[in-house]
Amino acid sequence: MKLRQLLLAALVLAAFLLTGAAGAATPARPGKAAIAAAHPQAIAAGEEALAAGGNAFDAAVAVSAALAVAEPNASGLGGGGFWLLHVARDARDVLVDGRETAPAAATAGMYLDAAGNVIPGASLDGPLAAGIPGEPAALVHIARRYGRLPLARSLAPAIRLAEEGIAIDAGLQAGLRFRRKAMEKSPAMMAVFCPDGELPAIGARLRQPDLALTLRRLASGGFDGFYRGPTAAALVEGVRAGGGIWSAADLAGYQVIEREPVRASYRGVQIVSAPLPSAGGIGLVDMLNILSGWDLGRFDGATRKHLIIESMRRAYRDRSAWLGDPAFSAVPVAQLLSPFYAAGQRASIRLDRATPSELLPAARTDGSEGNDTTHFSILDAEGNRVAGTLSINTWYGAAFMPPGTGVILNNEMDDFTVKPGTGNAYELQGATANAIAPGKRMLSSMTPTFLESSRGLAILGTPGGSRIITMVLLATLDWIDGHDAHSMTALRRYHHQFLPDVVTYEPGAFSDEEIRALEAMGHRLKASGRDYGNMNVVTWDYASGKVEAAGDPRREGEALVY
Ligand code: GLY
Repeated sequence: MKLRQLLLAALVLAAFLLTGAAGAATPARPGKAAIAAAHPQAIAAGEEALAAGGNAFDAAVAVSAALAVAEPNASGLGGGGFWLLHVARDARDVLVDGRETAPAAATAGMYLDAAGNVIPGASLDGPLAAGIPGEPAALVHIARRYGRLPLARSLAPAIRLAEEGIAIDAGLQAGLRFRRKAMEKSPAMMAVFCPDGELPAIGARLRQPDLALTLRRLASGGFDGFYRGPTAAALVEGVRAGGGIWSAADLAGYQVIEREPVRASYRGVQIVSAPLPSAGGIGLVDMLNILSGWDLGRFDGATRKHLIIESMRRAYRDRSAWLGDPAFSAVPVAQLLSPFYAAGQRASIRLDRATPSELLPAARTDGSEGNDTTHFSILDAEGNRVAGTLSINTWYGAAFMPPGTGVILNNEMDDFTVKPGTGNAYELQGATANAIAPGKRMLSSMTPTFLESSRGLAILGTPGGSRIITMVLLATLDWIDGHDAHSMTALRRYHHQFLPDVVTYEPGAFSDEEIRALEAMGHRLKASGRDYGNMNVVTWDYASGKVEAAGDPRREGEALVY
């Protein structure tokens, strides 16, 4: 090869390495903005922030706060979440961790009776089930550090919504019916959601004046407007009167943490996702690393799905064995993300047989989904991005509202390992790495994620409890196969989480032939009987410049491109 040819080859290689694939550089700016979120009023709030000169981060604050008002069954000021940000100017990704923490008076056995048995409902209903909220602190942090607008401007649409009211929809009503019994122990919550002692009719106006006041105090006082002063006092008083264990110091001491996201690459695609204390990014990469040993496109549908299920089984085994708040447990993150570790996992997978979960090394036990949690995706015209997954855990969280606050408390304490070897609300089992301890963050499945390749980028995530990570996996594989945002949100889902050893699937996820083939391999299949998840995706195609946004067709999510 002549010197000039060598030079040319070196230049082509350099271009490839810089862009991720030959010939396709990342365009500087999309020039368009897009929002996909679970409620049209939340999208309108984000649009208002952008129209006021805000960026994606201001829009994220506005969307999060509006969801707290309009989708109170799923997230809110009484909960927490993870906001994955991409700051275009610095080409930097950062995860804002606003996960709840266990109160200082929490103990490992706090939900067990004297005989060591789990007290039914104790980690799910009422204020004892609530961790110290992180969402208000995260909104203040994002607005101050990354936004352009004053916090009060971004919170204005949510305050208006709380004062003027929203229409009760079928999802809100169904959730209230489901949580009615627990809610009856909270007169303040009953007064807001069942003012006549009855479930509100669909279309009835839901006004939340106490929540509006709490939002106003947050808007004017920032962190102190929620975590100190009259709101904090009312929260602590209400929690303690209801049998909870919060203190003023728990609230005043809450801290947002900025974390390095999990990063990996799979078939030329860069994956950026949530780190601990979410299991999302590690689980997603664990599965992709296992799958990277095969060209999945060469297999028939049943074998391809079998391999994906086996990767799910192994990643969720790792979740239950190893994962927890890294400030409290030594988690072997580098090992779990290593391709060498994945190669070992892959070696135990047969192409023609399911591996019974009981034959995999056990977890160390020493020591209705889709209407809970919410996800939104935002891209602004400058290329800033936010993938935000927020939660109060199960429907309407702890179904408890401290009087005078309008704040529905989370029941995220159930995401801790309440008792090793015993499943939580999502049947997830854990080990001592996720045991309850004062100040500790409970393990999550929330998986806000960015995908990027020479083709473009995708911003995605979904609610759905333990199934979140496998939903994000399936959508990731779909995007990598060349499909768009609409396909990613619509595709039929299936899930395995190590224990119970069963594959749950949505109607239509498997053909009859695939069901027969998977069962012949030894998989135990269980039709979920209904849809699950509520994925919201934004994509940007570099070659065409097209920006797309898609809400989940299963729900009332909306998407908007400007
Ligand atoms: N509470 C749901 C999760 O964090 O996974």
